[in-house]
Amino acid sequence: MTMQTRTLGTTGPQVSALGLGCMGMSAVYGDADRAESVATIHAALEAGVTLLDTGDFYGMGHNEMLIGEALRAAPAARREQALLSVKFGALRDPDGGWTGYDGRPAAVKNFAAYSLGRLGVDHIDVYRLSRLDPAVPIEETVGAMAELVEKGHVRHIGLSEVGAETIRRAAATAPICDLQIEYSLISRGIETEILPTARELGIGVTAYGVLSRGLISGHFTADRQLAANDFRALSPRFQGENLRHNLNLVEALRKVAEEKGVSVAQIAIAWVLSRGEDIVPLVGARRRDRLTEALGALDVRLDEADLRAIEEAVPADAAAGDRYPTQQMAHLDSER
Ligand SMILES: NC(=O)c1ccc[n+]([C@@H]2O[C@H](COP(=O)([O-])OP(=O)(O)OC[C@H]3O[C@@H](n4cnc5c(N)ncnc54)[C@H](OP(=O)(O)O)[C@@H]3O)[C@@H](O)[C@H]2O)c1
Repeated sequence: MTMQTRTLGTTGPQVSALGLGCMGMSAVYGDADRAESVATIHAALEAGVTLLDTGDFYGMGHNEMLIGEALRAAPAARREQALLSVKFGALRDPDGGWTGYDGRPAAVKNFAAYSLGRLGVDHIDVYRLSRLDPAVPIEETVGAMAELVEKGHVRHIGLSEVGAETIRRAAATAPICDLQIEYSLISRGIETEILPTARELGIGVTAYGVLSRGLISGHFTADRQLAANDFRALSPRFQGENLRHNLNLVEALRKVAEEKGVSVAQIAIAWVLSRGEDIVPLVGARRRDRLTEALGALDVRLDEADLRAIEEAVPADAAAGDRYPTQQMAHLDSER
């Protein structure tokens, strides 16, 4: 088992160069197969993946319980190598609605207590507020997380989808190991200000949506029927003319991938890996075959000519449609 590694910022842990994002295993992209989800987590650990990402609101605790179950069923050595990155703060209702965010110090501790119980662990490796709570100064939320670190319940503090000013304020309060944020060939907004700020402050990036939720994986087709509980059924990038436009970009990327003898998903993941040693892509595989494909990206080396061809196929800002529906865009401090 030889897995490439990267370090999350100057204060964070060493992790596998690819992390496994477990969100899709809890009904975010339509229903997922529980046994296959557990098998995928086991296969990832077996392959040397150490970073598992979740959120307490993915399936209202379902995702954390699934990970807890997978870890308990794994051999001790595999269980011990797992580093858990957990998001909190999103408020849900019983119908699956999103009703806001809560970053109050008492809420932070409450969320953490429940997550530790559902995961069945005595500490969380990286804990992060999923979206900035506009009613609570970030210093107060991060201050509460720092108390969790002092008490040993959490090892490191991370951020998610926040902009440069919030990153600076958070980093002035306590050491921040990484920022989790969307970054892919078709979501390059962080390049202007957010990524340089993170780099200046020694904060790593765990990049999500590197396949743009499957859109640029090479497997998504225009005629795919999406279930009502699939995020993509509402995502602007997956609608009508936007979808047709975006899939044309994928076909251009497919030509570059084929020239190199790799798959579209592999070239898209390899491109994010090539953006810097401080970036760790999270891949949202929920099946073992997808995981195997994603891990293959670690062997893809992109030279200058490859990078030029990729940029030509998918220029920055080429995507049609926002990365979230309008009401969810409004919660992104990173888009202000
Ligand atoms: N901080 C945040 O705000 C935030 C937001 C979203 C996600 N995340 C985290 O980031 C992780 C990754 O995000 P994501 O799931 O949107 O990312 P993604 O990797 O861009 O998309 C995953 C989807 O791509 C499709 N796919 C096709 N080929 C694949 C392959 N070889 N490997 C993996 N997936 C393939 C799968 O859809 P099908 O199975 O339908 O083919 C899969 O559900 C999540 O699991 C979550 O932990 C964080």
